[in-house]
This record gives sequence, C-alpha cells and structure tokens, in this order.
Amino acid sequence: MTSEGRIRHAGLRRKVVPAEEAAALITPGSTVGMSGFTGAGYPKAVPLALARRIAEANAAGTPFRINVWTGASTAPELDGALAAADGIELRLPYQSDPVSREKINAGTMEYIDVHLSHVAQMAWEGFLGPLDVALVEVSAITADGDLVPSSSIGNNKTWLDRADAVVLEVNAWQSEDLEGMHDVYYGTALPPDRRPIPLTRPGDRIGVPHLRCPPEKVVAVVETDAPDRNSPFKAPDEASRRIAGHLIEFLEHEVGRGRVPPGLLPLQSGVGNVANAVLAELAQSPFEDLAAYTEVIQDGMLELLQSGRMSVASATAFSLSEAAAAHVNDNAADYRDRIVLRPQEISNHPEIVRRLGVLAMNGVIEADIYGNVNSTHLMGSRIQNGIGGSGDFARNAYISFFVTPSTAKGGAISSIVPMVSHVDHTEHDVHVVVTEQGLADLRGLAPRKRARLLIDNCTHPDYRPLLEDYLDRALEGAYGRHTPHLLEEALSWHARFVRTGSMAPRS
Ligand code: COA
Repeated sequence: MTSEGRIRHAGLRRKVVPAEEAAALITPGSTVGMSGFTGAGYPKAVPLALARRIAEANAAGTPFRINVWTGASTAPELDGALAAADGIELRLPYQSDPVSREKINAGTMEYIDVHLSHVAQMAWEGFLGPLDVALVEVSAITADGDLVPSSSIGNNKTWLDRADAVVLEVNAWQSEDLEGMHDVYYGTALPPDRRPIPLTRPGDRIGVPHLRCPPEKVVAVVETDAPDRNSPFKAPDEASRRIAGHLIEFLEHEVGRGRVPPGLLPLQSGVGNVANAVLAELAQSPFEDLAAYTEVIQDGMLELLQSGRMSVASATAFSLSEAAAAHVNDNAADYRDRIVLRPQEISNHPEIVRRLGVLAMNGVIEADIYGNVNSTHLMGSRIQNGIGGSGDFARNAYISFFVTPSTAKGGAISSIVPMVSHVDHTEHDVHVVVTEQGLADLRGLAPRKRARLLIDNCTHPDYRPLLEDYLDRALEGAYGRHTPHLLEEALSWHARFVRTGSMAPRS
C-alpha cells in the first residue's frame, strides 16, 4: 500500500477511501473523464469496483451505464471490465480493447473516434455535454495539493479543470522519480484568445511539472499499487524488418539530397507492431542525435534513447512492454531530462508538428492505388481501433509515411486495394507508402502516376496483376481520367472478402 509520503497534502490524506466507496460516487448516466493512454497511467481500482456495481445493477434490472472519456486506449481493468459489465453507453476518443471492440461492432456501445489533439478543445467547447467526474491516476500529491502525473498525461489537465468532482488514484507502483519528467502547459485557450505555443524544439519545457486541482474539488482519494498493463509487442518479423529497411534507405537518400538534415527531423511513430519494428531497426541505422516529437514512447523508442542514438523524446505517454516498463520504473531519474511527457493537446498539436517538421510514421489497415489511407475500419464497417493521433501527425508532417505489410490474414487480404472502404487520411496527406515489397514516394505525382508506383512498388505479387488490370480498365472506362475508378468494381474486393473470406478471386 501507498506510504504516507505519496500523499503529502494533509487535507487530501483525510479523503482516502476504499475503491468501492469512491466508485459509489459515480451515478448512472454520468460522464467520467478517466486518465489513461495506450495502457499507461489509467486508474486501476475504481473502474473495477464500478464495473462490479454496474454488473449487479444490470443483473437486478436497473440499467446502469456511463459515458467514458479518456486520453486514448486503457487496459482490461478499465475498458475491458466496464464493457463486459455492459456499463459503457458512449466511449471516446480511442480504444483498442477486444471486449469493447466486440460491443461497438455489435452496435451495443456507441463510440466516437476522434483526432486526439481535438479532444480537450471539444470538451471546452461544451457540445459534448458536462463532465461529471474526473478519475485520474497520479504518482503523488505534493504538500500544496499539486498532482504529480504518472506514466501518461493525456487529457488529465482538461478532465481536472472541467469536471464537477475529482477522484484521484495514487499509485505506489509508479516511480516517484517520474516527478520532473512532465511538462503541463496551462497556456491554451479557446479562440479568439489563443496565442502561439512557445515550443520550438522537441525537448523544450514550456509549462509546469505538476497538474493543478483545487483540493476542495477532490471527493475521494484511493491508494493503489498496481502495474500498468501494456501488451507486449510482437518481435519484429521479416516483413517489418524489410519495411524498416526501405524506409531507412529512403531517409538516407533524402539526407544525401540535402532535403532532410543528417540527424533527421523529429520522429513520430504510431502505435502497433510495425511502427515499433521500424524504431528497432533505426537503432541499427547510421543516424545519430535523433529526436522524437511523438505521442507514445514504445520499446523501440526507449532503445534509441538507451543507446544514445536519440537525445530527447517528447510524448504524452509510455506504451511499453512489461520488461521495458520495469526498466523505466527503475531508471526514471536517468530518463527525466531526456523524456518530456505533455498533455496530448500539446504532444499532438498541429501547430507544433508543422513547425518542427515531424517525420510521421503510422500504420494502416489499407491504402488505395491513389494513396488514400484507411487506418481504422475492416471492410468499411468494422472498427479495429481508431484514428488516434495519426491524423494529427499525418496531416501536418514534413513527410508523412504509412507503413504496412502488403497483405493481412495470411494473404487473404491485400493492403493495397482499388478504393479504400473507409477514409481516414486522404491522398493529400499521404506522402510515402512502405510495404515489405518496397516504397512509393507519392510526393509531387499526379494520381495516375501515383497508382502505377503503388502497384509496382508496394503491392504483393499475388494481387499486382489484379490491380494492374483494374487500373488499365479504369483508364479506359471511367467517368473521368484524372482519378479513374470503375464505380461498380471499386469495392468489389471487399465484397468478395465478406462473401468468400478472401479478396483473391477463385481460379
Ligand atoms: N484487413 C483486416 N485486418 C487487418 C488489415 C486489413 N486490411 N490490416 C491489418 N489487419 C489486422 C491484422 O491482421 C492484425 O490483426 P490481429 O491482431 O488479429 O493479428 C491487426 O490488424 C494489427 O495489424 P498489424 O499488421 O500487426 O499492424 P499494427 O499492429 O502495426 O497495427 C493498425 C496496424 C492500423 C491496426 C494500427 O496501426 C492502428 O490502429 N492505427 C490507427 C491509430 C494510429 O495510427 N495511431 C498512431 C497515432 S500516434
């Protein structure tokens, strides 16, 4: 259990209660803003206690559901438990939990998939409705009542400011040495009162190390001692290594041409196995003195920091395997000057991403021959995770890369299709597509040239002739020759998959 040293404010120490008592303060129909971002810094005890209460109420025929807002994805103790109890009416802005995914795709849970940099602004604008409770994990409370954030910041500043009541979880598992790693910027405002955000280098500190919250707003404090539960990354496979190889070769070429400086530009790397693998390969690359301006610090990013190849990383959260999280916990003091954790409205801020010239690398579900990207939906209808921060970065990046194996599900699905079945990133925001087959630099190319390049360089050989045939016939038969499509056929690959379990036609 937490020692008194973690709660140094006498008034807040008197508000310590068991998780069940804190959960009882959340009533049916409430909107709760919870901490948590990619499995880091989410509340560990109150959501579980709440899920138990909800399950009992639902079983007794008195429906109990709440709206859950977070930074991004959380973990089974939060999303999984509340979804399994049928306790979530509406979820935003991002999730990747299998139980929630099932409920959302079954149509029994509402989900709004939002650009992560937009969420705080939306909460302030007010159209999402009031925020009843903020439920936020911290690693300590200072004698003045300031809050030392834990392994993520996400939207916590906004939840604490906007909520009517605040419940804190003080987690003794989080390293006390995290104090000083965070940079909470309190200078944001709604238009017309906005000012430039004074951040010009990834490591700049422009705010304060603590979150503020008037102690009288805190209705309960719960002590926990439980680890963040991040899922392990898959070890980089051959396809990921080849993707990374193509990307690194391209960057070397850009440096050689003088279009990118030798230490590159600040890197952003998205969630997922492929993006993590690219970072692991960068550790073997010739680039030195790298920096990151990104959303999450994954294992691959940590390796770059450890090896000294990366000098500084800015993010809003960690997203680490169990082993890497333990390493950070043991060595937080060493990383404190090289890692800056910020609110997600700043880590993902379009103004800053554009100013710094970020090199953005994100995963895709599918891309089409003209370069439109779907990051979120399977066969146009079924959500996988969400757009997360990929749009914040891709739209504003200096070079926006999208990386993916050329096929999915053992070859039954081509990641390059005639037309994407859902659009997250338009052709205007997609600069370079990389698969294990090769790389297509789409910059400066008109649509038909983009299509040829994507088919030649990125498509799996099993699907390449089919796409060539589609494009040839579209060039003949389309309504226009600028971005030729055969409307009755453009989504036929998806329809075939839904019908037969494969995009490939039966021979
Ligand atoms: N059709 C069906 N399933 C597909 C698919 C497709 N075209 N492409 C990928 N998938 C499935 C994979 O089969 C895999 O499923 P599994 O978990 O059952 O094995 C899963 O999606 C993950 O794919 P993987 O190839 O391992 O890639 P990844 O872990 O890099 O994830 C995304 C890819 C697109 C799902 C992931 O990057 C994502 O959610 N992106 C959106 C959010 C984002 O970009 N955030 C970053 C902002 S900083």
